[in-house]
Amino acid sequence: MPRLSVNINKVALIRNSRGGNLPDLVQVAKDCEAFGAQGITVHPRPDERHIRYSDIPMLKEIVTTEFNIEGNPEPRFMDLVLKNRPHQCTLVPDSPDQLTSDAGWDTVKNAAFLKDVIARFHEANIRVSLFVDPVEKMVEGAKAVGADRIEFYTGPFAAQFHDDPEGAVAPHTRCAILANEIGIGINAGHDLNLDNLRFYQENVPGLLEVSIGHALISDALYYGLRNTVQMYLERLG
Ligand code: PXP
Repeated sequence: MPRLSVNINKVALIRNSRGGNLPDLVQVAKDCEAFGAQGITVHPRPDERHIRYSDIPMLKEIVTTEFNIEGNPEPRFMDLVLKNRPHQCTLVPDSPDQLTSDAGWDTVKNAAFLKDVIARFHEANIRVSLFVDPVEKMVEGAKAVGADRIEFYTGPFAAQFHDDPEGAVAPHTRCAILANEIGIGINAGHDLNLDNLRFYQENVPGLLEVSIGHALISDALYYGLRNTVQMYLERLG
C-alpha cells in the first residue's frame, strides 16, 4: 500500500496569518501521525510564507514516521536539509516566488547540477526524489543522475481526471512501468484528493508514496483531521 505523507504547509499558512502559534504545527504533525499518516511533508519556500525555516528543527525532532522536505536546492535550502537530515528530500524546480509547483525537472538539461546535489545529499544518507512530469525521458534522466525516486507531478492528471480518467492516468502508468523496470522508486503529488486518489493508485504500479496537502487540509474543515486522514488511507487501499 502506498504511504500517505501529509503536507502541512497549509496549516502553517493559517498560523502565519495571525502571528502566534495557532494552529500548532508540531501538534498537527503529531496528530496526523497518530491518526495513521505514514509521513510528514513540508515545503519551505524562500519567502517562508507557510513553513518557516525555523519550523524544521522542531518537526525533525518530533516526526516519528518519514520526514520529507521539498524544495528547490538553492544554497540556503541545501544547508537547511543537510543540517536537519530528513529521511527524504524532494527536489522541485520552483522559482522563488512561485505560487505552487507546476512542472517537473528537465532531468536531462539539469543533469550535471542534479547529480552534484544528489551526491551531497547521499553523503548525508538522505534519500532523494526528483519531481518530474510523467515523461519517459525525464524518468530515465532521473535514474541517470542517481535519484532514488521520482515524484510524478499529478496536477494535470487531477485537472483531466473527471473528463477523461483513462487518458489522464495513461502517461503515469507508462512511466511507472518504466520506472519499475529501471529500478527507481515512485512517489506522486499535487492536487490528489478523495475523488481521484484511488483511481490513481490503482493505475500506477509500484506507487510507494503520495504527498497530499491542499485537498486534505481543506477536507479536514468538514470531516475533521482524524476522519480525513483515515479517508485518504482508505483510498490508498
Ligand atoms: N508535491 C510537491 C512537489 C508540491 O510542491 C506540493 C505542493 O506543495 C505537493 C506535492 C502537494 O500538493 P497538494 O497541496 O496539491 O496536495
